[in-house]
Amino acid sequence: MQTALDYLKHNQRRFVAELCDYLRFPSVSAQAPHKPDLLACADWLANHCQKIGLTAEVCPTAGHPIVVARTPRTPGARRPHYLVYGHYDVQPPEPFELWKSPPFEPRLEGRELFSRGSADNKGQHLAHLKAVEACLRTGTELPCDLTFVIEGEEEVGSQNLTPFLKAHRAALQCDGVVISDTGMPRKDLPALTCGLRGIVAFEIVLHGPARDLHSGIFGGAVDNPAMALAQLLAQMRGPDGRVTVPGFYDGVVPFSVLERKQFARLPLKEAELKKLLGVPKLFGERGFTATEQRGARPTFEINGLTSGYQGEGSKTIIPSWARAKITCRLVPDQKPERIRKLVIQHLKKLCPPSVRLEIEAGHGAEAYLLDPTSAPAQAALRALKTAFGHEPVLLREGGSIPIVNDFKRILGADSLLLGLALPDCDAHSPNEKFDLDCFAKGQRMSVCLWQELAAI
Ligand code: BES
Ligand code: ZN
Repeated sequence: MQTALDYLKHNQRRFVAELCDYLRFPSVSAQAPHKPDLLACADWLANHCQKIGLTAEVCPTAGHPIVVARTPRTPGARRPHYLVYGHYDVQPPEPFELWKSPPFEPRLEGRELFSRGSADNKGQHLAHLKAVEACLRTGTELPCDLTFVIEGEEEVGSQNLTPFLKAHRAALQCDGVVISDTGMPRKDLPALTCGLRGIVAFEIVLHGPARDLHSGIFGGAVDNPAMALAQLLAQMRGPDGRVTVPGFYDGVVPFSVLERKQFARLPLKEAELKKLLGVPKLFGERGFTATEQRGARPTFEINGLTSGYQGEGSKTIIPSWARAKITCRLVPDQKPERIRKLVIQHLKKLCPPSVRLEIEAGHGAEAYLLDPTSAPAQAALRALKTAFGHEPVLLREGGSIPIVNDFKRILGADSLLLGLALPDCDAHSPNEKFDLDCFAKGQRMSVCLWQELAAI
């Protein structure tokens, strides 16, 4: 194993250059004009996998393609088989003006590599590919067979990956899934994430007058859709931070005493968090700490709110419509479809007759929990400790990785979530960055992980 680790050490500069090449593709899955960029990015990735000694193909789907790459198999050898999952798509980079350098022109500042997709998720899964490269190039035995499944639609709900898993169930049958697409609390605090929140998405539109109207001529006699939407949405959450949709909290599994103790031990306390996020005061569901609120309590969030004139100066109109993009984060045992129904029912009940409510349903995924006492989880903790030189912590995190439940349901496989992103990585924000020490240690962790997993 040492020769593989030495190889990693001596090749970091090239790895960073390769990561920069990967980051230059503006693979924004949410925006249709970027379709060719996603294709080019998938091609680059498949080529890169081939270059380092894997067999790789770009598999088309109804949406963006999936890259599947396999380590060389030894005929007759029955070795553990793990999937490594990641995504080459990225969140939209807007607003561009807040980036200190263009989002798809990677910039190194100290040990931090700035670019959209650096932490979420190109840098994180490239670490695993570099670990495999190190093993293959140094003749270090890879004690597990690996299949990389890197998709292009994670940031938009992974809807085409589910049928892909079903169609390739036999080839993807595995002993577990390894994912680096989560976080770690500090550079010296590696983590195994044992819980993720689920999600359910909708867009709601309130339609008012048939066209934008002169607000002086008609204002006062006709409802304003932007105002109606503001009033409607304002009723979805109480001043205690609780979602007011009836039935929303039914079946929510309460924290155990042990869980609350584990949450309390984590760093990034209220004061630090407030400073990191630049808010005048934190806000969340009463009765829970900020770590609990953002890691494992359900929410109702407005992700986008649009109506009326947004250009320079003023324009005195009553907008014809107002639109909101909404997601709820979910926890065990909230079912996305049930929550979707409850929210829609509540919105319909509260919507005034002076506007017409239109609801478009989006993606949904359940929350995820992993038993940290399982043998693979314990193996992952050992690999983290060896690579980072520090005792790892167990986390529950608030983000969602929609496909993990399908890995369980369709393939029967648990997902080990070994995140390499730091809390200040600014994923989904302007100036996203990835720490190159985490990149390097992630590669070491991956080399160690296959040894540990093969030994259980
Ligand atoms: N990497 C994140 C998920 C994540 C982030 C998990 C931090 C835990 C901690 C992933 O790329 C992501 O952003 N997922 C989306 C999924 C959604 C669009 C269906 C999310 O959580 O918003
Ligand atoms: Zn993301």
